[in-house]
Amino acid sequence: MKKFFITTPLYYVNAAPHIGHAYTTIAADILARHRRQKGEQVHFLTGTDEHGSKIELVAQEAGVTPQAWADRIAAEFADLWKHLDIQYDDFIRTTQPRHSERVQQVFAHLLEKGVVYKGMYQGYYCVSDETYWTETEAPPDEKGRRLCPNPDCRKELKVTEEESYFFKLSAYQEPLLQHYRDNPKFLQPAHRAKEIVNFVGEGLRDLAVSRTKVSWGIPLLSDPGHVVYVWFDALLNYLTATGYRPPGMAEGPSDYAALWPADVHLVGKEIYRFHTVIWPAMLMALGVPLPQSVFAHGWWTVEGAKMSKSKGNFIDPREITREYGVDVLRYFLFREMPFGNDGDFSQQSLKKRYNAELANDLGNLVSRVTNMVDQYLGGALPGKPPLDRVSLVKELREETAGIEEAMERLAFQDALNRIFAVVGRLNLHVDQNKPWALVKTDPEAVKWLLFDLVCSLRMVAGWLTPFMPVTSAKIHSMLGVRRVAEPLTPEEVLAGPSGDRIAKGPPLFPRKTP
Ligand code: MSP
Repeated sequence: MKKFFITTPLYYVNAAPHIGHAYTTIAADILARHRRQKGEQVHFLTGTDEHGSKIELVAQEAGVTPQAWADRIAAEFADLWKHLDIQYDDFIRTTQPRHSERVQQVFAHLLEKGVVYKGMYQGYYCVSDETYWTETEAPPDEKGRRLCPNPDCRKELKVTEEESYFFKLSAYQEPLLQHYRDNPKFLQPAHRAKEIVNFVGEGLRDLAVSRTKVSWGIPLLSDPGHVVYVWFDALLNYLTATGYRPPGMAEGPSDYAALWPADVHLVGKEIYRFHTVIWPAMLMALGVPLPQSVFAHGWWTVEGAKMSKSKGNFIDPREITREYGVDVLRYFLFREMPFGNDGDFSQQSLKKRYNAELANDLGNLVSRVTNMVDQYLGGALPGKPPLDRVSLVKELREETAGIEEAMERLAFQDALNRIFAVVGRLNLHVDQNKPWALVKTDPEAVKWLLFDLVCSLRMVAGWLTPFMPVTSAKIHSMLGVRRVAEPLTPEEVLAGPSGDRIAKGPPLFPRKTP
């Protein structure tokens, strides 16, 4: 069976991970957990991009070898993913021989095939972005300097003239346009497609894919004075991680057939072009099928400003989790901004959502329901109810389709909005039915009312599992659900609970002073 194969970008190891990296990785984890919940086989790949002059430079400043530096930062990424409950299946590092050796072979194959050729490169290079620019793309400013055209970078470019190998990207203009036309789901979300189609429509230049002035990289087998351009190297990870071998290589153990093509590459919007133009052209050159989709999400600013070294305003995910816990960070990032758009990270908004949505709405609902079962039913649910006495849980069956559909579209905010609308409805149901008063006049009705609420909450916790795995497991355990890995259908929910012990507990989200 082909696995659902999902990837994050390989993060540069020039500095410690921040909230932006955590964002993409948590998104991938949410999607991976959702797919696993549905019973699919999932393969979730992440890792680190460790070559290039930028990394060589920071290592030098720190007085260590680039490899030692990369080891240190790669470990920091892996530690953070563990801390954030990321269940990835593979972590690839571009300095691992399973990757670098394969990159050399792929390069040799493309050279032999004639889609890579030797030439002379003249132009400008941005060390920070690891990107080449032409004269027209980076015209001189009023002071005569050429700055990186990327509006988020604007660093001064280096003049470069050197012998270089080129990838015949220009030959793939038509095939790429054809692919975009034939596969409307390839470019995601839809609002980002136009920019790519226009860009490719304007024509493509061949791409310099080797460097002689960089030493920290993968040397070419046939010409070791050249190292592979870091993007050409890093993009190939999605393939090398599967154990892919270029044509003509000896067969060997490989997961390529079970994994490829990738179902979705998740990337930030700034690296969308690399993944939707260069990468698919490389795959076409290799004769390998293209990924099903590339999804670009937007960027976080912090308190209204771009995160940057000079401003020193990088948000460390651990700082947030120290104060709020891991699940709250996972929740906030995906409730606050629609996946695909840009948004702003503000402490005030975090606290506001925490108090209103988590402490008041969800946390309070769980504690009032479990407390009432404790107080009015002695902590045990009654046996199977007459079906006409449980209305809520049956209504919720209708909600599942909408939530599922949102998850399929990676519309995480939409899914959370729907889940929390249900939380609101459940709170309202309690308020309207006033079990504390009803218990005095109709204890039988209270029994089924609470039964209905417990079952509904079990479903809510099931939907929330990909977003807040620890909290959901806690809720399930308070509500007597032992099987938390899969979401429960209303039928299962109704069939399961008879006589189950319901445990009250400390508040899930203690209120913070506003
Ligand atoms: N190494 C390349 C990617 C190679 S993929 C074959 C790279 N690395 S990176 O460390 O700069 O990571 C970029 C990714 O981090 C973005 O694409 C995005 O997923 C995430 N983010 C970094 N800053 C971000 C924000 N401020 N907001 C949201 N996500 C951002 O590019």
